[in-house]
Amino acid sequence: MERTREIRRAEPLETFEVVFPQDLNPMNTMFGGAVVALMDKAAGIVVSRWARRVAVTASIDAIQFLTPLRQGQMIEIHAQVAYVGKSSCMARVQVWGNDIGSGDRHFCCEGFFTMVSMDSNFRPVALPMIPVETEEEKQLWDYARHIKQAMLERREQARQMAE
Ligand SMILES: CC(C)(COP(=O)(O)OP(=O)(O)OC[C@H]1O[C@@H](n2cnc3c(N)ncnc32)[C@H](O)[C@@H]1OP(=O)(O)O)[C@@H](O)C(=O)NCCC(=O)NCCS
Repeated sequence: MERTREIRRAEPLETFEVVFPQDLNPMNTMFGGAVVALMDKAAGIVVSRWARRVAVTASIDAIQFLTPLRQGQMIEIHAQVAYVGKSSCMARVQVWGNDIGSGDRHFCCEGFFTMVSMDSNFRPVALPMIPVETEEEKQLWDYARHIKQAMLERREQARQMAE
């Protein structure tokens, strides 16, 4: 890492939505693509707010849907910058469902979003660095880096197959 790189703390994002009828699949649970769209939006916001630049989604990895979201439930979305490369970084996004009546809360899904910071000519541009200090931050960093590495290897394979 170059010495002059600014270290800037990335504020995590916590946001809420509600499952509306138009978000449902034929099983009457929330359509996965609609959940991913909310997660993608949260990843873009948490990264752009920290980087102070527009960031586009380069890849979405390691999404696990563990429990469904149902109509009327509150969707709780947490996003944080987990790993930073040069012009790309990874945001971990986690989603919980909250039942408004009972207050019950269940973990729904998690995913890792690689976002690339862009300049006004749509070219990748260098990001600041985040401080990685706590054990939890270090573990998350290593996990995200591992996911990114695996994804880049897959991308290379896909490119070779396309040739
Ligand atoms: C993302 C994009 C800008 C990368 O362009 P590129 O010419 O491959 O750029 P580079 O090779 O210089 O890569 C820039 C960074 O992105 C990373 N990257 C590129 N493609 C990636 C991918 N598919 N997944 C994860 N990271 C990726 C590179 O590893 C590099 O990271 P680093 O700077 O931290 O080392 C380009 O593929 C693009 O514009 N994609 C469309 C993005 C978009 O429109 N998203 C919205 C949804 S359609």
